[in-house]
Amino acid sequence: MSKTRILTQILLLLLITKSVESPSVRIVGGRPAHAADYPYQVSLKRSTNDVHFCGGSIITPRHVLTAAHCCFYIWGGELPPSMVSVFVGQLALKVKPSSVFRNASRIVVHPDHDEFLMSNDIAVVELDKDLPLNNKFIRTIPLNKQTVPANTSCMVSGWGLLQFEGEGMSQELLTTEVYTVDMTECTRRYQLVKIKLGKGAMCAVNDNRVSDACQGDSGGPLVCAGRLVGVISTGKECGNASFPGVYTDVRLFVPWIERVIKESEVTVTPPNSPRSQTVLSLQTPPESASSSKTFQTLVLTLVAIAQSVHILSDFCLVLCC
Ligand SMILES: *[C@@H]1O[C@H](CO)[C@@H](O)[C@H](O)[C@H]1NC(C)=O
Ligand SMILES: *[C@@H]1O[C@H](CO)[C@@H](O)[C@H](O)[C@H]1NC(C)=O
Ligand SMILES: *[C@@H]1O[C@H](CO)[C@@H](O)[C@H](O)[C@H]1NC(C)=O
Repeated sequence: MSKTRILTQILLLLLITKSVESPSVRIVGGRPAHAADYPYQVSLKRSTNDVHFCGGSIITPRHVLTAAHCCFYIWGGELPPSMVSVFVGQLALKVKPSSVFRNASRIVVHPDHDEFLMSNDIAVVELDKDLPLNNKFIRTIPLNKQTVPANTSCMVSGWGLLQFEGEGMSQELLTTEVYTVDMTECTRRYQLVKIKLGKGAMCAVNDNRVSDACQGDSGGPLVCAGRLVGVISTGKECGNASFPGVYTDVRLFVPWIERVIKESEVTVTPPNSPRSQTVLSLQTPPESASSSKTFQTLVLTLVAIAQSVHILSDFCLVLCC
């Protein structure tokens, strides 16, 4: 179809334009995490090939919080839970025989998530079995429920790119310090380049040194004073203080998250009954998308790519590997 061909060309053009931009040095500005300092950090991997595509945080023995945009293919269909494995309790990105992991059994993307506006960029991944929270390397993190003042010190962690437009993921978990930014200030900084922040967003930055989240960190934790304050969402470039990192403000979604968790308690099935039936009924089958819907989604995705390289890379990892 010619529409598709034009879109492919736009995509190629974007990719070329992207690679022509001057690379800039930027977990970006991080240091290796110490064992047991980030026991809530998870790596979301493709279950078929163990390729890392996003971060996440353990919020209950059965649930991981991540970004909504982590849960889609580039053409817009939601990733089925069978495609997602959740690795916990390790600093290394590489899968070992001793790695502890669970398969996803249900993925609940926020119903008002909009991939164009990057609004409500939050999702809950339910696991097939409880995590073993019996050691200091695997722990839950409490959700932040309060307003966090501007300039609060927080830690962000992930295996994402070491620099904007860099090659490949970090092989060890990295972490770096950022400070929350007043939303009026963050909105102003992005308005200068005509980017409108999505609903439910918050920002954090380090004005004094290069320090930020980057592609592949998406879905991971922003933690301030021991609470999960943000979910790594997006941003323009990585480590450029003119453009703070954009996070989903967890506080605004606590009632929704708690509802989703309660739902799974209600739908808990006896060991021998097929859990996947419950799961299927909650997923939108990808086949249901009409071709015009697919076209629309593709356009939106392209615009989103133009706006945010973070999204491109996550999608690319989901798609290409
Ligand atoms: C998890 O998923 C993988 C890949 O689909 C599969 O090989 C494995 O058996 C699953 N593990 C469990 C415990 O269901
Ligand atoms: C933010 O806090 C740090 C110390 O934590 C301080 O050095 C800095 O001046 C503060 N910045 C603003 C803009 O208040
Ligand atoms: C940050 O972005 C601004 C605006 O696009 C640009 O002028 C500046 O050179 C960038 N800074 C770095 C360190 O890349």
